[in-house]
Amino acid sequence: MSSLGLKGIWLPLLLVFLVMYSNFHDCEGRRGKHRRAKQPPSSSLARKKAKGNNGGDRRHGSGGGSGGQPRPTPETMAAMFDVLDFGAKGDGVTDDTKAFEAAWAAACKVEASTVIVPAEFEFLVRPISFSGPYCEPNIVFQLDGTIVAPTSAGAWGAGSLQWLEFTKLQEITIRGSGVIDGRGSVWWTNSDSDIDPINAELGSKMPQIKPTALRFYGSYNVTVTGIRIQNSPRCHLKFDNCEAVEVFNITVSSPGDSPNTDGIHLQNSRNVLIHRVDMGCGDDCVSIQTGCSNIYIHDVDCGPGHGISIGGLGRDNTKACVSNITVRDINLRNTMTGVRIKTWQGGSGSVQAIQFSNIKVWEVQIPMVIDQFYCDRSSCENQSSAVALSSIAYESIRGTFTVKPVHLACSDSSPCSGISLSEVELEPLQERYHMTDPFCWQAFGELYAPTIPPITCLQIGKPASNRISTDHDLC
Ligand SMILES: *[C@@H]1O[C@H](CO)[C@@H](O)[C@H](O)[C@H]1NC(C)=O
Ligand SMILES: *[C@@H]1O[C@H](CO)[C@@H](O)[C@H](O)[C@H]1NC(C)=O
Ligand SMILES: *[C@@H]1O[C@H](CO)[C@@H](O)[C@H](O)[C@H]1NC(C)=O
Ligand SMILES: *[C@@H]1O[C@H](CO)[C@@H](O)[C@H](O)[C@H]1NC(C)=O
Repeated sequence: MSSLGLKGIWLPLLLVFLVMYSNFHDCEGRRGKHRRAKQPPSSSLARKKAKGNNGGDRRHGSGGGSGGQPRPTPETMAAMFDVLDFGAKGDGVTDDTKAFEAAWAAACKVEASTVIVPAEFEFLVRPISFSGPYCEPNIVFQLDGTIVAPTSAGAWGAGSLQWLEFTKLQEITIRGSGVIDGRGSVWWTNSDSDIDPINAELGSKMPQIKPTALRFYGSYNVTVTGIRIQNSPRCHLKFDNCEAVEVFNITVSSPGDSPNTDGIHLQNSRNVLIHRVDMGCGDDCVSIQTGCSNIYIHDVDCGPGHGISIGGLGRDNTKACVSNITVRDINLRNTMTGVRIKTWQGGSGSVQAIQFSNIKVWEVQIPMVIDQFYCDRSSCENQSSAVALSSIAYESIRGTFTVKPVHLACSDSSPCSGISLSEVELEPLQERYHMTDPFCWQAFGELYAPTIPPITCLQIGKPASNRISTDHDLC
């Protein structure tokens, strides 16, 4: 009798101890020990999170030990976190944001883990941040399904600068054959002059701030490959404050008349490689902003769109620094400009060591543009300072234009120097009214071979009055 009584006390205690130990083990000693969770953690996590808002609290892994298939050998053993295991429905209608947050929270704790967004499902996800800095490195976001953005105004609150955000991560990869669909058409018509009275009354007008579809911020060793990004409300793919970025074999697509829908936007980022990308959008296919250096872009198809642009730089008297940009083997079809550098009057800093080579254009309005008088209003105040442009090489720029072959308009106070032109062959698509000759203003450099048409407006040599650069101008 008494021994039974003792068992009656010890057995529950032992069980409690075992449960506590295994939970502790689950939290702290996970690396290399991933198993499939006994019960799907999704529902309880979703319920716990249901009343909270985005981000903020860090989840502790009590229920989140879900994983993918156990792997046969230790070498291939990797942690897999499938959003379906975290309660995502993938029916394109149900809000799957919580499931994505939970899958990310679990993956974040495991080095070289994989978040799986499976093929043949469509996931509706609200604005979300997959964020470090406390995540383990080398996480893969395997995107084979489709992620769609909400189209109801309520899902966006007061507005968000981005929809899907990855921040402060090291070695982060998005790959797969999946689609990121911003469903931006509800935003594109949303201008002040175009208020739909019925929608406005229902409070369903989209916010003024339009989101970028996919943004990386403050991250190192970023790879984006395989996926398709389409119909973003604004820019499709943006990198700021990133280093060591590779984007390849992706597609970007939105209509040619969708406003401000840049393809890839780079800012304050270094060592960026973009290749084998097919882009059609309503603004610049690639836009390179201040703080960018060592950028290499090749084998890109662009059109419709506004071409490949550096700038606008120096807006509101700011200082801009861009250097060492190579753009080569590019096909531009039906774009507004081909390769372009644009700066506002009144800026400072410099753009240098830029190379455009083997650029093919079809029906491009103005294939080669430098515009140091960039202005997005009807007129901008004349100012004497400017971002200084030097060492800009154009080599093998060929094809057809519809408005003007070349427009090189440099600042009076800070002429462009070191523009080199070789193998420029640009033919008017057909003789039309309003077709104009090459234009240059304060553009200095070298002509290495006869061009078609002749670009006699380039001034050979160096500008006479080299302005003394101040510390303010140094980059
Ligand atoms: C980025 O990758 C390179 C090469 O794989 C590696 O040497 C470097 O440490 C990585 N940097 C970061 C911050 O992860
Ligand atoms: C490019 O990405 C697609 C998926 O979108 C994939 O099927 C294809 O194999 C990739 N091609 C290369 C050469 O990596
Ligand atoms: C320029 O950028 C390329 C990458 O595109 C890099 O390999 C090269 O070292 C850079 N050159 C300088 C002088 O920094
Ligand atoms: C700026 O200068 C140009 C050329 O001198 C002149 O045509 C234009 O009217 C000026 N614009 C303003 C806003 O002062």
